Amino acid sequence: MEKNQSIGYMDVPVPKDVNLKEAIDQLRKEKNAVILAHYYQTGDIQDIADYVGDSLALAQWAAKTTADIIVLCGVHFMGETAKILCPEKKVLVPDLNAGCSLADSCPAEEFAQFVKAHPGHTVVSYVNTTAAVKAVTDVVVTSTNARQIVESFPEGTPMIFGPDRNLGNYINSITGRNMLLWNGACHVHEQFSLEKILSLKKEYPEAEVITHPECKRPIIEISDFVGSTAALLKHTIKSEKKQFIVATESGVIHEMRKQSPEKEFIPAPPNDSTCACNECNFMRLNTMEKLYNCLKYELPEIFVDEEVQKQAIKPIRKMLEISAQLGL
Ligand code: 13P
Ligand code: SF4
Repeated sequence: MEKNQSIGYMDVPVPKDVNLKEAIDQLRKEKNAVILAHYYQTGDIQDIADYVGDSLALAQWAAKTTADIIVLCGVHFMGETAKILCPEKKVLVPDLNAGCSLADSCPAEEFAQFVKAHPGHTVVSYVNTTAAVKAVTDVVVTSTNARQIVESFPEGTPMIFGPDRNLGNYINSITGRNMLLWNGACHVHEQFSLEKILSLKKEYPEAEVITHPECKRPIIEISDFVGSTAALLKHTIKSEKKQFIVATESGVIHEMRKQSPEKEFIPAPPNDSTCACNECNFMRLNTMEKLYNCLKYELPEIFVDEEVQKQAIKPIRKMLEISAQLGL
């Protein structure tokens, strides 16, 4: 059988008698592979992963793993970030079609022109970007550390923030900075319906609305708590409240329920859907079958151009250094 990754994943039927959990576990041990999963993966993938985390945690784990193979159950830019940090390792993503609408909203050449048009600006890029965008960036941030990293630069520093306009606006509003924003957005987080959330608030008057900063300003304004995926999770563990309306990708509710089984989590609904929750169609492309095949055939693999990798590692390392100093 020919091994190729042209369709984005190993399209090989998994024999019916394969116990996926056991087989994945065995393969990861045999191959000294580590499975890293984002909170937006399906519950079964989160449950089998060695580590589950947000974008910052995934980069931190990738940077320090001693495994020979990193299987990144998330989207393409997360695999790229791991590969940039560990160019000597094999980095696999179960389905390479797992892209990101936010990363797509920032084509590298256009972003490079924007940077060129604003000389003297420090370029801050959200991790949800391609390697080529990171290569023209001064410091990468995630939603967990964006505020602190922006504030680590002296007030008055001219800055560009890309690509998420909602996160950029939010950081500007809480820090009093005036960063120039790239006009990008995530199709999942922009989809939440203010009207439907307000009507859920009436239905659950005791519930807290907790929101990811990639959401639009009106949703942020009516929220009780705003934070990254990891911050939302921590908040639900610490809070004395018993009900939460969760305005982010609904995958994280899996871990919220595991951590606080006595609490109730209500996914915030999107605008134009008959579905009650909001899922990232890219994240959900990864499945247990694709994860199994990916470990078995060691495909599909992430590659990053050598010159791009050499540039892109600098702002990622800078992010990891500042985060370590800040204890994040
Ligand atoms: P965090 O993992 O930083 O919360 O980002 C959310 C996201 O959209 C990941 O793609
Ligand atoms: Fe990208 Fe949004 Fe999906 Fe995150 S949830 S991977 S930002 S499209």
